[in-house]
Amino acid sequence: MIRKVKGTRDILPPESRLWNEIEDVARTVLGGFGYSEIRLPLMEHTELFVRGVGEGSDIVSKEMYTFPDRKGRSLTLRPEGTASVARAYIENGLGQRPQPLRLRYLGPMFRYERMQRGRYRQFNQIGIEILGAATPAADVEVVTALHAFLTELGFDDLVIVLNNLGDPEDRERFIAGLKQELGAHRDELCADCQRRWTENPLRILDCKVPRCREIVAGTTPVADVVNDEARQHVDAVEAALAELDIPVERAPRLVRGLDYYLRTVFEVISPELGADTVICGGGRYDRLISDLGGAAVPGVGFAIGEDRLIEVLPQPFADRVLDRLTVAVIPVKGEGAARATALARDLVRRGIPVNTEVTGRSLKAGLKWASKINAAIAVIIGERELAEGVAVVRDLRLGDQDTVPLDGVVDRVSDLRDLNQ
Ligand code: HAM
Repeated sequence: MIRKVKGTRDILPPESRLWNEIEDVARTVLGGFGYSEIRLPLMEHTELFVRGVGEGSDIVSKEMYTFPDRKGRSLTLRPEGTASVARAYIENGLGQRPQPLRLRYLGPMFRYERMQRGRYRQFNQIGIEILGAATPAADVEVVTALHAFLTELGFDDLVIVLNNLGDPEDRERFIAGLKQELGAHRDELCADCQRRWTENPLRILDCKVPRCREIVAGTTPVADVVNDEARQHVDAVEAALAELDIPVERAPRLVRGLDYYLRTVFEVISPELGADTVICGGGRYDRLISDLGGAAVPGVGFAIGEDRLIEVLPQPFADRVLDRLTVAVIPVKGEGAARATALARDLVRRGIPVNTEVTGRSLKAGLKWASKINAAIAVIIGERELAEGVAVVRDLRLGDQDTVPLDGVVDRVSDLRDLNQ
């Protein structure tokens, strides 16, 4: 028995329908805001993430699926999408197109993480990036698109938290101050934070260990030490979001786990999953493209964890998708099989989903099967119907049925569906 790789998942029907529907909404809403799809490779040269996401980040230091290919080149299964978008922007000369450029992507990402609820080694993100706009208006649009997407799915309890990381120059100063403030308690920090102290001190701020949290609670928030321009930028973002009635809370210790961020950073938290399980993360990264060898092109974006989103999906949305009706087409004992297939084709052409019985069941067994697959309507073709060129259309919920000429079946099914939806 060969089992799936730890941390990967099979997404089975009917759950896969929820995934499809969410991705359709993403296409409609994020696409509606002008974000066009970019399809990126699942593997990249390791160097891209080392330089883009940062050597000291948890992702690069311990979570990447990195391997040599047959020629010994170091490749990595992408742990996130932003670095790839930046690479693609530079490599394809996307700076030549009208700016800003709005891109959206979706697909699997890979991180070697400890498995738990909502944390997988292969997981899916839906993300957008806007490149070439340094204004607060771009941050505001990104958060607005995120909010519109979540609202369309029926969420009304998610919390958007936001912080100001300042510019990289502020960060050096901030980190020096932070270390000074934490100095007296250095030995009490957890083992991970001991490592972070030298490799990535900013990450000490969002350590989940309770004692570390206590210690950190007494330190000066990063937003207090940022330069004036950065302060004005994020204040303007916050004010505009308030104007748009998009609820946003300040989170003074929010730093995010990727090194490319500056100024605006934000996350979406679900009360159900708690503050440790983030549904979506994003922010501004004005130096990423130049750090990767491109021009000085600013960017801002977010990525939603689709696996986590599904876990807290509002029930009405899930019900609407999962309760969708199907029609069972049953050629009794397989005799009218060809006619059944023709009917199925006509129904599908009209946009009506069908399931055709193809194993030669009797009428009784066929109806039992239809109820098991949650069919709302059965179209039955028995020996008599076959001879007379008709079919029985049966409403399985009400038990009513009618004999209909073959060329009237699609209209009849269509009418019944309208009545019952
Ligand atoms: P991130 O916060 O590392 O940001 O990931 C974004 C989201 O992906 C998380 O909020 C979470 O929902 C989901 N996620 C991350 N790791 C896992 C996992 N192991 N299992 C399940 N879900 C997970 C980024 O990746 C940035 N590229 C976002 C961004 C785009 N910033 C600017 N533009």
